[in-house]
Amino acid sequence: MTDVAGWWRDAVIYQVYIRSFADADGDGIGDIDGVRLRLPYLRALGVDALWLNPWYRSPMVDGGYDVADYRDIDPSFGTLAGAEELIADCHHHGLRVLVDLVPNHTSDQHAWFREAVSAGPGSAERARYWFRPGRGDAPPNDWRSSFGGSAWTQLPDGEWYLHLFAPEQPDLNWDNPEVLAEFDSILRFWLDRGVDGFRIDVAHGLAKDASLPDIGAEPPPRGSAHPHWDRDEVHEIYRRWRRVIDAYGGDREFVAEAWLDDISRLARYVRPHELHTAFNFDFLTCPWDAAALRAVIDKTLTALHAVGAPATWVLSNHDVVRHRTRYGRAETGFAFADRRRLYGSPVDLALGERRARAAALLSLALPGGAYVYQGEELGLWEVEDLPVSLIRDPSWARAGETRDGCRVPLPWSGTEPPFGGAAWLPQPREWEVLTAERQTGDPDSMLELYRRALSLRKELPALGDGGLVWEPDARRGVLDFRREPGFRCLVNLSDSPVVVPSGGSVIASSAPLTSGRLPVDAAVWLG
Ligand code: NOJ
Repeated sequence: MTDVAGWWRDAVIYQVYIRSFADADGDGIGDIDGVRLRLPYLRALGVDALWLNPWYRSPMVDGGYDVADYRDIDPSFGTLAGAEELIADCHHHGLRVLVDLVPNHTSDQHAWFREAVSAGPGSAERARYWFRPGRGDAPPNDWRSSFGGSAWTQLPDGEWYLHLFAPEQPDLNWDNPEVLAEFDSILRFWLDRGVDGFRIDVAHGLAKDASLPDIGAEPPPRGSAHPHWDRDEVHEIYRRWRRVIDAYGGDREFVAEAWLDDISRLARYVRPHELHTAFNFDFLTCPWDAAALRAVIDKTLTALHAVGAPATWVLSNHDVVRHRTRYGRAETGFAFADRRRLYGSPVDLALGERRARAAALLSLALPGGAYVYQGEELGLWEVEDLPVSLIRDPSWARAGETRDGCRVPLPWSGTEPPFGGAAWLPQPREWEVLTAERQTGDPDSMLELYRRALSLRKELPALGDGGLVWEPDARRGVLDFRREPGFRCLVNLSDSPVVVPSGGSVIASSAPLTSGRLPVDAAVWLG
C-alpha cells in the first residue's frame, strides 16, 4: 500500500489511557483485559483504530512514560501474552492498533540506566545517556525540565545526568549507535507482534546539541537554533525508522507527538520517507473562535498538503484539560507554554458541552484523520478537585500542576461511583448521567452524537481524506464549508442563530434547529 492509499489518511483513532479505561480485575486500575472486554463498545462507537498509551513494564512515575523494559508489559496492566491477544482481538473486530513508543528517555529503573550508574564516569554505559560533570556545585547547563526545576540530577559520584522530564526519566543519547540499534529492534519486536503503528512520544526532543550550551534567559524558538527541541538532526532518525517500518509492507504508520511553534516545522516530520502523520496541536489549543479556527484549518491543510501528508484533528488527550471544560471558560484557547494558567478558573459546563458537541461535528467533518480521547465521547469534563493525596502526576510535585484531572476512570454503568468497577481516582457523582450505559440509545446524548457522526463518516464518500471549499458568503462568525460530493458543514460561533441554507437535508446536528435556524455554538451537517 502506498502513502496515498494509507488507512491513516482518514482514520478515526481512539486513544486508550489503559490505567483509566476499563478495569477487569477489580483493583481500580484499568488493564489489558478491560480493553478486551470493551472492544464491542469501541466497535459500536465506529472508530477505526486504537492508540494505547504506554503499557510497558514501568515504575509508573509518569503514567508509564518511564519505561523499564520495552519488550514486556507492566504487571498492573497484564502480560505480554495478554497484549498479543488484545492485538489479535482488535484485528478480529476490524480495529488497528498503535502502541506508544517512548524513545527520548527510559526509566531510571531500565537495565541500561542501572548499568550506567554502577559503571561510573567515562564508561560506555554512561555514553548511552547524557552524563556530565557539573560546573562547580551547579549543573552542567541551565536547561529546565518540562515538569519544572533543573533538567539535571547529580549522582553521589558527582556526575550529573540529563532529564528533560522527571529525574526518573533520563534522556537517551541519540548520537550513540547502540541507542539507534536498540530502537530498531524494539520497533521490530512490536511490528512482529502485529501492531499497525506507533505514536512517538516527544518526537521533537531526541536530537540534542552535544555541546550542551546554555539556553539563556531568552530561549531561541524551537527549531535548528534550539539546543534540544526540534533540531534538524532528528529527521535522520525518522528516515531510518521509516525504512524499518516499510519493510513490513507499507500499511503501518507513525504519528508524531511534537509540540512546535510553527506548523511549517511540523510539516517537516511528515515529509515523504519520514513519519506519516502528526498530532495537530494548533487545532487543539485554538480558541473557540471562527476566525482563529478557520486560520488554523487553512494553515494546517496548506502546510501538510505541501508535503503530501494528511491532517489530523485533535481536541483532547491525556496531557491537556478536557475540551468540555476549556470551551466552558471565558478564555477558550491556550498556549502550550502556559497550559495550566486557567486551571480551576470558573467554568460553565453546559456551555462547554454545547461547544464540545459542535466541535465534534467540526473535527469529524474536516479533511484527514481524527483522534478521540477516551471519555470525550461521553462528554466528560476535567476533574479539578482531586484529593491531593491521590495525585500521581510528577508535574504536581515539581510544578504544582496536574494532568490527572483528565485521567479519571471512565464511568461505564450504574448510578454511583465508581461507575462499573473500582477507580484509582474518584469520579464525580454527577457522572451518573454520563455513563456509557445511560447514554446508549439516548438520541440526545454525546455518545449517540459521536456514533452517528462516525457512522456517517464511513458512509459518505465526501468525508475523510480530501479537500474542502469555504462558502464565500458565510456570515461572520460562521464556519461554512463544502466537501464533494454533496456535503456541507456549518458551525455557528456567532452570537445569534443562523438560517440553515436550503438545498441539502440535515443529516446530523449538535443541537436541535429552531425554526430552521442553527443555534449559537452548534454545528450541522447537510448531505
Ligand atoms: C508526552 C506524554 O504525552 C506525557 O504524558 C509525558 O509525560 C511526556 N511526553 C514525557 O514522556
